Amino acid sequence: MAIEFKHVSYVYAPNTPLAVKSLDDVSFKLEEGHFIALIGHTGSGKSTLMQHFDALLKPTQGEITIGDLKITPETTNKGLKPLRHKVSLVFQFPESQLFEETVIKDIAFGPQNFGLSPQEAEQKAYKWLEKVGLPKEVAKQSPFDLSGGQMRRVAIAGVMACEPDVLCLDEPAAGLDPSGQKQMLQLFTDYQKQGHTVILITHNMDDVAQYADDVLVMEKGKLIKHETPRLLFKDRRWLRQHHLDEPTTGLFAQRLSGNGFQFDRVPLTLNELVMQIKANLEDHQ
Ligand SMILES: Nc1ncnc2c1ncn2[C@@H]1O[C@H](COP(=O)(O)OP(=O)(O)O)[C@@H](O)[C@H]1O
Ligand SMILES: [Mg+2]
Repeated sequence: MAIEFKHVSYVYAPNTPLAVKSLDDVSFKLEEGHFIALIGHTGSGKSTLMQHFDALLKPTQGEITIGDLKITPETTNKGLKPLRHKVSLVFQFPESQLFEETVIKDIAFGPQNFGLSPQEAEQKAYKWLEKVGLPKEVAKQSPFDLSGGQMRRVAIAGVMACEPDVLCLDEPAAGLDPSGQKQMLQLFTDYQKQGHTVILITHNMDDVAQYADDVLVMEKGKLIKHETPRLLFKDRRWLRQHHLDEPTTGLFAQRLSGNGFQFDRVPLTLNELVMQIKANLEDHQ
């Protein structure tokens, strides 16, 4: 499902002294089935932008096209259910929205809400319980008896069990331990590889370098860049100007460049870094 923003602006509390323009004339088009990273400093408008993908917020100005649906300032909530089925959003700290008495009921809630029978929804819930790496034994427990990391997985399983075409995630790995973060990212890339679009808000440039097809960079409500990680991380001066970090592989290559090594392109993954170091060593033999 293609997604296009045309001159979208969003103002919180419009026409009041507290008005904040949080999106300012944002235009872009996303390819179906891509892994898109949405980055930028705190307060730059990432979460506000994200909430436009499933029309939780409607633009104050401009127009959004999602598949065959158009969203404008005049759009009302009536008729948005099909959109919410196709585009799902995992909020920051989604565990705060768990509410059912058992884990499995919580995960099954979404699929059932979108039309599956209770049995089908439960089956789906068990599938996603396993996919997010939780043991079957927790299914009948209260979600509130789990650890924070496990609760996060339950909440994410609940959204993924609806199997949306477009999965939007607002800093889903924040606060998890490193191995939990890695597993989480693996889950999302697997989902993308099955043909879905994944849009991820993150501060982790290693993940951006490794997984993203496109990067959207926000700054003060404006979209200041939309390009591939390869091009984004090549322009170190631009990154410095905007106080954005580089991926570890890029920093590593940079350090070696000062020591006689040559890199014809920024390595985005550990594998690429190793291959380029090997090529350098072979050249020296
Ligand atoms: N509910 C809200 N009411 C008023 N202002 C808000 C609200 N949510 C966010 N903002 C403001 O909108 C701007 C963008 O915020 P946000 O989209 O949360 O940025 P990010 O996710 O990049 O940290 C900030 O100036 C923030 O203070
Ligand atoms: Mg945010």
